[in-house]
Amino acid sequence: MMNFEDKLNEYVEYTEKELKKYNNYSNENRPQVSLIDAMNYSLKAGGKRIRPALVFAFCEALGAEKEIASAPACAIEMIHTFSLIHDDLPAMDNDDMRRGKPSCHKAFGEAMAILAGDALAVLPFEIIADAPALTAEQKVLIISVLANSVGRDGMVGGQVIDMENENRTDIDEENLKNMYRCKTGQLLAVSCVMGAICADASTETIRAAAEYGLRLGLAFQIIDDILDITSTTEELGKPINSDAENNKTTFVSLYGIEKARKMADKVTSEAMEWLDTVEDNEFLKEFTEHLLRRTK
Ligand code: IPE
Ligand code: IPE
Ligand code: MG
Ligand code: MG
Ligand code: MG
Repeated sequence: MMNFEDKLNEYVEYTEKELKKYNNYSNENRPQVSLIDAMNYSLKAGGKRIRPALVFAFCEALGAEKEIASAPACAIEMIHTFSLIHDDLPAMDNDDMRRGKPSCHKAFGEAMAILAGDALAVLPFEIIADAPALTAEQKVLIISVLANSVGRDGMVGGQVIDMENENRTDIDEENLKNMYRCKTGQLLAVSCVMGAICADASTETIRAAAEYGLRLGLAFQIIDDILDITSTTEELGKPINSDAENNKTTFVSLYGIEKARKMADKVTSEAMEWLDTVEDNEFLKEFTEHLLRRTK
């Protein structure tokens, strides 16, 4: 296998190239040009492209070429970007910076940010339905798992639990784990699952991809909570101390940084075990470690 950093760069660069194609950064004289500008602004602002990298990595680890996974990889990055645009709104976390730039609502106004998020939530399904590299069976399965991970039982449901927790002082570990599983774990898990579906993996392997992704997601959100306190706005590209300002209960507020880090370590090891059933898992193992050690 090519060196880890090079492989990750390859996935990220391929994501940038494909995103440009799907979102067709030109406006084509449409009257809703401001909507397209707002969508592109947040999509192009940067971001680590972790979810598309997971789609490609699972697809390749299970023996298919990454090109097959182009549509679901870009789809999940659009959904994730929609989740961030809405997460930053004054009615939610009220954060004015994202990916090193003013948040979408700061740059385009609240109404346009809501609508840009809406459009980025549905375009992915059109892209998948139209993907020439996928079979009809793969498309239906991907659309089903993706929709499930985004909505009521996924990211949106998790954001509701997060929001309703703000005014409570009785949040326990069980509540937090469930909330993180929904708001963050589901989108990471479905990235892995979609990569596996692109490679026509067995039901067992698809299950392993989901179990891995959910644990990775839990660790990822714990690290996000730690960085919210220990990092800087420059490094993260988003405001620090956002959680405390919004009275969020997090693994850090519940257990402290030290113990939260230990918990992230433990969940990461559990995630790693699910990779044992994946054929060519070398990159994925390094990626898992890389995400645990991340500083942004
Ligand atoms: C931030 O996700 C939101 C969480 C689920 C914690 P990322 O840390 O992947 O954000 P980008 O895509 O790199 O901006
Ligand atoms: C992210 O949670 C969950 C989403 C679904 C967007 P956070 O609110 O902690 O994410 P950041 O820290 O703003 O990126
Ligand atoms: Mg939030
Ligand atoms: Mg937030
Ligand atoms: Mg956060």
